Amino acid sequence: GKVCLAYSGGLDTSVILAWLLEEGYEVIAFMANIGQEEDFEAARAKALKIGATKYVLVDVRKQFVESVLFPAVQVNAIYENVYLLGTSLARPVIAQAQIQVAEQEGCFAVSHGCTGKGNDQVRFELAFYALKPDVQVIAPWRDPLFFERFAGRKDLLEYAAEKNIEVTQTKAKPWSTDENMAHISFEAGILEDPDTTPPKDMWKLTVDPTDAPDVPEDFTVVFEKGLPVKLALADGTEFTDPVEIFIAANALARRNGVGRIDIVENRFIGIKSRGCYETPGLTVLRTAHIDLEGLTLDREVRAIRDTFVTPTYSKLLYNGMYFTPECEYVRGMIAPSQKTVNGVVRARAYKGSLIILGRSSSTEKLYDATESSMDELTGFQPQEASGFISVQAIRIKKFGESVREKGKL
Ligand code: ARG
Ligand code: SIN
Repeated sequence: GKVCLAYSGGLDTSVILAWLLEEGYEVIAFMANIGQEEDFEAARAKALKIGATKYVLVDVRKQFVESVLFPAVQVNAIYENVYLLGTSLARPVIAQAQIQVAEQEGCFAVSHGCTGKGNDQVRFELAFYALKPDVQVIAPWRDPLFFERFAGRKDLLEYAAEKNIEVTQTKAKPWSTDENMAHISFEAGILEDPDTTPPKDMWKLTVDPTDAPDVPEDFTVVFEKGLPVKLALADGTEFTDPVEIFIAANALARRNGVGRIDIVENRFIGIKSRGCYETPGLTVLRTAHIDLEGLTLDREVRAIRDTFVTPTYSKLLYNGMYFTPECEYVRGMIAPSQKTVNGVVRARAYKGSLIILGRSSSTEKLYDATESSMDELTGFQPQEASGFISVQAIRIKKFGESVREKGKL
C-alpha cells in the first residue's frame, strides 16, 4: 500500500523513507512550505533518489498566517506565560495538508518522524484522526521494528551510508530545530541541561540584542477587530496583505533582536522539557495588540477572555486539540471579543526590546481622558465615589471585625 510520509529532508525522515520502502510500502514524500528556510528542490531530489514514488510540496503559508497566526494574535495566545506556541500553531495546518495529499494520492496510511516522547506525535496524530478517521498511522519511533534497529545516531548514519543516502548536515549542531514562519525551536542535545546557556551562534533568526543597531526603529501597527491590517515602517514602507505584514514584522524584529525565548515547559505527556525559541514577528504583533486592548477593550469582556478563552485556547493548541469540538467552540469566542479592538499602536524596537510609544483609536470611545483626568471634575460627583467605597466596605469591615476577634482569642 501507499504511505504518505511527512518528509523533512533530514537524516531521520530519510532513513524512515528508506525503511518504509524496505518494509514493502510505496512512499509519497510530503513536505509543507510553512515559511521555513529550506532548499525544497534539494529535498525533492533526495526523496526521489531514496525511492519515493513522488514528492509533493504544498505551500501553506497564506493559510498559516490567516487562519492560525492572526487568530493567535487576536487572543494573545501564550503557553505557561512564556512560549508563543510557534510549533503548536503550525501542526494543524501541516497535518491538514498532509491528509489532503494522502487522500489525493490514495494512501492508506500517513507517517511521521516524531519521537515517542514529544508533543508533536500527539498533535499530528489527533489531527490525522479528526480529518480522516480511518487513516492508519505509522510512527517508526514508536515501532520496535524500527527503534530497536536504529537505537542511536550511529545506526542511522550507518544505514544511510549503506543506502547511499547523503548526509548533508553542515557540521551536526548539538541540538534539534524546527522552523516555520512563526518561529524556530531549539531543543535537545546540549540544551537538555536547563542551566546551559545557549551559545551565541545557536540563535538563527534574530541578531543578538547586543549587536542590534544603536538607532531605535519606530513602527506603527493598525488593527481592525483585533486583526493587524497595516504595518508601517519608519522609512514610509507600508504592508497591508496579511502574509506581507507577518513577513515584515518578522524582518523588523529579527534585525532588532526581538523575540528570543528560553523556557522549561511541561509537555502534554507529562515530561518537562527545555526549549529555546525565536518568535520575532509574532512577538511584535502580539505586544502591539495587547497594548491596543488596554485602550479599546471593555474591562469585563477582557477579564472573561483572559480567564477562560486565552488560557484554554493556548492549552488546546499546545496539546494538539485543534480539531476538536471544544477547540471549535473556544475559537468561536475569539472574534466576538475583538469587535472594539480598532486603532493604531506606535512602537519602537530597540536592542531586543519593544517599547510602546503611544496608541489611539478614532472609533472607540471607552477611554475618556476627561473622565479619568486628575484636573477636572466631570462625569460623576465626588460624593458618589464615597458611596461606592462605603458599600464596598460593608463586607470588608465584617472581615476586619472577625479577624480582630479571633486575634483576641
Ligand atoms: N516544545 C515545543 C512544542 O512542543 C517545540 C517542539 C519542537 N518540535 C520539533 N519537532 N522539533 O511546541
Ligand atoms: C519530538 O519529540 O518529535 C519533538 C519534540 C516534541 O514533539 O515535543
